[in-house]
Formats: sequence, structure tokens, C-alpha cells
Amino acid sequence: MVDTRTPRERLRRADSALEDLLGLIGERVRTRLGELEGEGLLARLEHAWVDAYEALDLVYGAGTDVAALLRDLVDVVVEAAAARPPSLRALDRRREVDPGWFQRSRMIGYACYADRFAGSLAGISDRLDYLAELGVTYLHIMPVLAPRAGENDGGYAVADYRAVDPRLGTMADLQALAGDLHRRGMALCIDLVLNHTAREHEWAARAAAGDAAYRDFYLVFPDRALPDLYERTLPEIFPDMAPGNFTHSAELDGWVWTTFHEFQWDLNYGNPAVFRAMLETMLDLANRGVDVLRLDAVPFLWKRMGTDCQNQPEAHLLVQAFRALTRVAAPGLVFKAEAIVAPEMLVQYLGAHDRYRPECDLAYNNQLMVMLWSALAARDGTLLTRSAARLRAVPPTTGWVTYVRCHDDIGWAVSDTDAGSVGLGGFAHRIFLSQFYSGRFPGSFARGALFQETPWGEARISGMTASLCGIEAALADGDPDALASGIRRLELLYSVVFSFGGIPLIWMGDEIALGGDQHWADDPAHAADNRWLHRPVMDWAAAARRTEPGSVEHRAFQAILGLVAARRSQLALRAGGETTVLPTDNPRVLAYRRRHQRSGPFLAVASFSDTAESVDASLLAAAGIGRPTGVHSSAGMGGLLLAGGRVHLPPWGYVWVAEE
Ligand code: GLC
Repeated sequence: MVDTRTPRERLRRADSALEDLLGLIGERVRTRLGELEGEGLLARLEHAWVDAYEALDLVYGAGTDVAALLRDLVDVVVEAAAARPPSLRALDRRREVDPGWFQRSRMIGYACYADRFAGSLAGISDRLDYLAELGVTYLHIMPVLAPRAGENDGGYAVADYRAVDPRLGTMADLQALAGDLHRRGMALCIDLVLNHTAREHEWAARAAAGDAAYRDFYLVFPDRALPDLYERTLPEIFPDMAPGNFTHSAELDGWVWTTFHEFQWDLNYGNPAVFRAMLETMLDLANRGVDVLRLDAVPFLWKRMGTDCQNQPEAHLLVQAFRALTRVAAPGLVFKAEAIVAPEMLVQYLGAHDRYRPECDLAYNNQLMVMLWSALAARDGTLLTRSAARLRAVPPTTGWVTYVRCHDDIGWAVSDTDAGSVGLGGFAHRIFLSQFYSGRFPGSFARGALFQETPWGEARISGMTASLCGIEAALADGDPDALASGIRRLELLYSVVFSFGGIPLIWMGDEIALGGDQHWADDPAHAADNRWLHRPVMDWAAAARRTEPGSVEHRAFQAILGLVAARRSQLALRAGGETTVLPTDNPRVLAYRRRHQRSGPFLAVASFSDTAESVDASLLAAAGIGRPTGVHSSAGMGGLLLAGGRVHLPPWGYVWVAEE
């Protein structure tokens, strides 16, 4: 018997399926979209075909006629293309000509909750001058789609993908905001929660009402037999708030898979109808003007017995198929992976597999974020250097999203191997970090809170950057020196985020060193989840002080503005280039070189020490820089300090160096 699933055979089938399909729909597409648009779509379809076919065949091929499935999915795509508004088609044209549009050094991200930043979506439009002043060109608004009422995991329990949370506005407001952003050359990113829906979503309601087709949208088990087997290898995401991974549902008369909270039901991607429904959802959002979809919890899409049910090959294949198909209708759309996984698993979400398979265009660099905090607490860059050096290069068409803080807790993803390789015990170091950032460690400047503490004493951390950097404690103590140190730490962390390669993301409020929300627990829907500590309401009175020299807000804001301006002047900082970590003779210092095809070399040197430090100046030559010039440095430092054959840095100082 011929094995019809060998790669060669698959390609042959893909080819003939494409030929059949083009024969079937070619004329219809040209009539439906017009000659020019139709021709463009057909070309994109041919271009994307193998990626879509191969991925879907590997996932569904065993039990499904993939050619028929694709014919149906392509209908969805053609309809979405026909409905795409002219202004977005114009953006598509630009981005087809300039596919690296999101990789530019001018890309500066900002992330916020619409209500906490500006009251509503319409309110954000009124704050665009503020974002423009800051240099923002990429706005990530935290979940905006209609969530379930009551507890909803900060909006990550979506009850309707076609509607906006009524507290924030309407779909028309979202479209209007997208238009306002585009007119200013800014891109809009929103979350697509595709691993699960709220149990109130229509699909779940239909399942609960006994509709078998919709029951198959979820992973439902009649008894505990299989769930118990799965649980043997499944971790718990929120052990305090939501223990276990399955929830009993009386209506379903069974156990439904709930990785996160009991009200978030995991979707069954083994069912192609779920893939189709999510494809429609993505295309609908793209047609509303969304430029970037943040694929929430993407590692969890596929479950496999005996594993932790994360990062399974099928999860990647599904995203590859989504990408290929969405791009046919909306070529300007970009995917961002939210994959908070071990470093060796991370670059695959950017398509770096055995060979490049287009997947996400952007991915959060969680590892860098964790290691920055680790270095700051330890006053030592060794572990950071080690882990950054181990991170594989990203495909040139993609990029990282680099960040200091986000709306989630910080999990101490410090592997035992990495820690061991620099002489630390992984466990002890993780305990040290949570002790340090919760302010328990003697001498700690941080004022964070422990999140999801385990019985054996490990914990994640909640808290704003200003709290974790020591600014909050310094303000409370009225200590000007401690305050200056805190601001230097904030600037240092952001300096790495702005120059490591990728899109830097400012978490709302960090630009004015905003502290945590001390009343986070007053809302009963938040009381069990101290991540609300670092999701404060924007303090516009404080923001107004950014123009008052000497104020904390002014100092933080100026630090960020300096980074924005310096970054924009450096071609080497665009995404897609290479970041190479360089060894130095000082363990307290991190040094890395950036290079982009079109740029000369760029070197960043950053010190995590609370005292003055220096490194051997041979580092400059090692970075390929012959006539060095400081292009930016920490506040008050005044550029590259070279003396006695060494590069000097003040406490928490950094310098960016390029060829003169
Ligand atoms: C992501 C979000 C997090 C949420 C989870 C479940 O990790 O960032 O806030 O709890 O997904 O949707």
C-alpha cells in the first residue's frame, strides 16, 4: 500500500488540490472581488497554499478530506476578502510592498487596559496625543471583546468574539479607534483568546443545551477516568484560585477541560469546525482594523496524554495554518505569540523549526524579562548573559516583543540547568527572587506581592515596575537617594528592552513610574487575584507632572523619551537582525551587539551593579566597532566613558555605542 502521508506524497496532493480549487473558484473570485483584487487574492492563495495544506493535513488528515476542508475554509477567506473595507485594503497594499513594516526601529509599543487608561475605547482616541508624545506606534489594548459577567480573568473569558465589552464601547468604537490610530501611523493590537471561551459563550451554551455539534467544540469527558490520567502530567496554572484542569458541569453531565479557571472552557482543536470558527473570528477582527492579534495562551491549543499539554507540534501547525489562511484575505495582519514557555521552546513560535515554517511574526521575550529582574536582584549579569546567549536567533522576517512588565505575574522561569551552569541552585535562586521582590529579603528595595505560592515555597510575583525597582519604597520613605537609584533601575531595564532587538513594549504607567493599585482587592471580582495590584488606573494628574522638572514623573518620562529618540536613530535596532551576547571581564555587566543586514554594528553595555563598574575596552573591537561613539547613555552619564583602556559605567548605568 502507498503511504499517502509521506511529505512527497503530501506535496503532490497539495498541488493537485490547488489546481482543482483554482479551476473551481478562479472566475468566481475575479467576479466577486474585481479583476485586480481577485488576481491579488489568487496569487496570495497560491503562495500560502502549501503552508496551509501541509499543516492541516498533518493535524486533520487522518480522519478528514483535507482538500474538501480547505475548499470550505477558502470560501470563508474569500468572503472576508470581499468584506474588507477599502481603507484596510490600502494598508494591505503598503504592507505587501513593505512586509517588514512592524520591524522598524520606530516601532514603540504601549500596552494598557482601555478602561484603566482612558475610561473607554472612545476615551483612548482622546489620549492619542499623549501616546504620540511618547513616540508610541503600536498600541496593545488589553482584552476588549465582550467577557462573561463577574469574574472573567481580566477579560480573558470571552463570551462573544463579535462584540466589544459594553463597558468599553461598541464594535463601531473599536473600528473608529483603529482608523484614528492608522491615520497617525500607529498599529492596533488586541488579544485573541483562542484556547478557551467563557462557559457563557454561545458555543458553550449550545453544548450545555445538548447540541452534540457544539459539545464537540469542547473537551468533555463522561467521568474522571481520562481526566485523572491527564492530570498525572498536567501542571496547574492557578493552583490557589483554580486547582485542577477539569471542571464538572451538570448541564454537560461530564467533566470539561478547563486549563485556567472553571469558567474558561478549553476549545477542542481536534474538531476542524473549531478551526473554521476561529478563522472566521480572526478575519472578522482583521476587517475591523486590528493589525496585530495577540494569540493568548497559544502553547495550550493541543492536548496529548502523558505530556504537560503545552507546545505540542499540532499547536504550532494550527497557528501556521491560521497564518497562511488569514494572510490571503488580510495580508497586513500580524500574529503575536503569547507563549510563556521555556527558552528552547520559544523560537518555534516564530517559525524556527527544523526548517522555517511561517508561524507568528512576533513573540514575547519572556526569558529576557525574567532574567532582567534576576540580574537586578542579584546585582549580577552572569545568568542573564548565559540565558541570552542560549536563545536561538529568530527568523529574519520576525521579531521579539521585549518588555519589563505586563499585566501578568512574573514567573521565575529560571531553569535548573542555566542556574547550575553559573553556580547557582535553580530552586534556591527562584526562592531568592520571590523573597527579594516581595520585599522580604534583607535590604531589598522591592515592594511586590507573592502570587500563587506553592507549598514548597516557590512563588510568582505581582507588582508594578516602580514597586519592584524601589521607587515606591523610596517615595514612601521620602529618601531622595533611594529614589534616584530606583529611577536609574527603571531606566536600565527599559534600556535593554529598547535595544535588544524587537518591539519594546511600555506597560501603562511605567513611563511616569506609576505605583501599584493599593485598593486592588476592593472589587470582589478581583479579590482572589493580586495581579490587579499592577493593573492600576492611569493617574492623569501624575502624568501631568511629566512637564515639571525634578518630579518623578518628569524623570521617568524623560528617560523613556531619550530611549525612544536614540532607538529611532539606530537601524541596527530594528527587529529581525541579530543580537549577540558578548563575554566581558565583569560579571555585573551585560554586553550585546546588534547588527542588521542594512546597518553597522551597535553595542550596548549595561551594568546591574549598585557601584561603579568597568569593562575592558577590547569589547568595542569585539563588537566590530573601530571608531566608537556613544549614541545614548543613562541619565547624567554623558556618553561613552573611556579611561585607562576600560569602559566605565556608574551604578545601574548603560551606554549604547555605534561606529562614529
Ligand atoms: C494569558 C493571559 C493571562 C490569562 C491567561 C488565560 O496568559 O496573559 O492573563 O490569565 O492567558 O487566558
